[in-house]
Amino acid sequence: MWQKSLSQNELMSKFLLLEGKSQDVLKQFPDNTFHAVVTSPPYWSLRDYFNDDQLGQESTPEEYVKNVVSIMREVKRTLRKDGAVWFNIGDSYNNSSGFCRATKGWDRKGRKKGSADKKAIKHPTIKTKDLIGMPWRVAFALQEPYVVPTCVQSEVDRAWLASLFDADGCLGIRRFDSYRKEKKQVYQDGYVAYTTVGNSDVEILDKCIEITNLGKVNLKTKAGSSDNRGIVTRRDNYNWRLDGNSALEINKAIYPYLVAKKKQACLIYTLDKLNKKKHDSKTVPKDIQNKKEKLYELIKKCNQREPVDLPSWVEEPKQEIEPGWYLRCDIGWEKTNPMPDGAKDRPTRGHEYIFLLTKSPQYFYDYYRVLEDTKYQPDGIQGFGATNQEGTFRMDQERTFEHYGKRNRRAVWRQSVSTYRGKHFATYPPKLITPCVQASTSEEGCCVECGTPWVRTFEKVKEDAYNKKGYNLVLKDMGFHKDCKCKTTEKKRCLVLDPFNGTGTTGEVAITDHQNYVGIELNKEYLEIARERLDSGDNCFSHEVFTVEDILK
Ligand SMILES: C[S@@+](CC[C@H](N)C(=O)[O-])C[C@H]1O[C@@H](n2cnc3c(N)ncnc32)[C@H](O)[C@@H]1O
Repeated sequence: MWQKSLSQNELMSKFLLLEGKSQDVLKQFPDNTFHAVVTSPPYWSLRDYFNDDQLGQESTPEEYVKNVVSIMREVKRTLRKDGAVWFNIGDSYNNSSGFCRATKGWDRKGRKKGSADKKAIKHPTIKTKDLIGMPWRVAFALQEPYVVPTCVQSEVDRAWLASLFDADGCLGIRRFDSYRKEKKQVYQDGYVAYTTVGNSDVEILDKCIEITNLGKVNLKTKAGSSDNRGIVTRRDNYNWRLDGNSALEINKAIYPYLVAKKKQACLIYTLDKLNKKKHDSKTVPKDIQNKKEKLYELIKKCNQREPVDLPSWVEEPKQEIEPGWYLRCDIGWEKTNPMPDGAKDRPTRGHEYIFLLTKSPQYFYDYYRVLEDTKYQPDGIQGFGATNQEGTFRMDQERTFEHYGKRNRRAVWRQSVSTYRGKHFATYPPKLITPCVQASTSEEGCCVECGTPWVRTFEKVKEDAYNKKGYNLVLKDMGFHKDCKCKTTEKKRCLVLDPFNGTGTTGEVAITDHQNYVGIELNKEYLEIARERLDSGDNCFSHEVFTVEDILK
């Protein structure tokens, strides 16, 4: 195995525990980072984690769904394209009984004394006594495509910024012909977009920076100075200017709300499209160069308030649409020891869901590693289910391993609820999530350069003798191969994330499986429990790192 060739230090898995709101903390991580995410968010209206930023205390199911979706968008950005998420979520009823919303004074482990605190919500479709169906509400919302967020997060701020640009801003194109002038070389002119807002109220421009995180404010003219027309300014004047990509980011964010400067926005958007047609300044084809020149002339006219008709090849800035999650499987977690719920007019619900979600239709999945044993003898009547069904043709007949003593893992998993004793009341059992980590990370590790997991191959092999279970056909692990074009064969461990770390069950499973781990959690107290759980002391197979750079190495 690859671990053998590594030094003692490399043999150890690393973990990084970060305190804060997962949607904020994740911003520190680059796009396409994590191989696997295994997580369980707080369920709606069930427990109080005593933190103003917590998920789960929203007053309506819709708000909860919206917040989950928004956190999961940040998870999606940081998930590798070949990565997968295993998302555990449970359901509840719209009623006034049961437990909900703890208060600090609780003395029954995480559950409310009595039920006075829980009230059925008034909702247009979810009646009192209705099962809310939260897992599926969340799953369907996660499948929805969405507009890629711009550099301005809130719609109100986008609208405000657009009206500021309409009134006091400028969207323009700068031409630079320095080559031609300075070096007397006849390269073609270059064109770049810029945006500026000028104002004597510096607070307004500071707000622009606050909501966009872009650029800085410069003092343009001091009070008392006169401009080229001899007009003396009475107040200091400030300027917020952005060039190139930052200007284009702003353009994308404000376009839908612009009123007077829509044409300028189209012109700089089109310029960007032309600039992206990767030519250097010597080789820009003539027709493209002519179009850029035209855009430059047109935007000058627009900014001088001259009437302008836009040519048909000028494009409107498009909102970028990101496809939603691929919902690949709904795993039913059948609890062997569910909570008795006292209902006498329906069965007891003893299950939750684990949704397998991916960013792409193709992703890493170690099928071999999570196969399960078949229960029955190969040729018994319980063999392959379709044999006696006339007219049934199963496409996957060739691909089943029933006769090898193995079969693809099925989607209902029986497991008792966690027996973890600690200050946390909603942990999941390590055994439940072990197959999730095993399927979505490579035992062999991933390419040190591009992070692509090494892939296992296996073959069907016929052996001379029958084994104890009565099989002479076995599936044989043929080892791993690298699956990327990088020259190096060096490997590192895969990286697993839990954005709702709790006590770090996902971390424990990831580290036991020799992977690296990042856990994000609002409550310091739980992070301390996780730290104790993950840090395995002197004979360690894991060690804590303290920076994002260290965990990504
Ligand atoms: C269901 S528990 C997770 C338990 C975990 N799977 C375990 O086995 O220990 C959800 C956790 O999410 C945390 N949490 C709630 N809102 C959060 C947020 N916005 N960002 C990060 N953590 C949050 C809670 O404090 C809680 O510990």
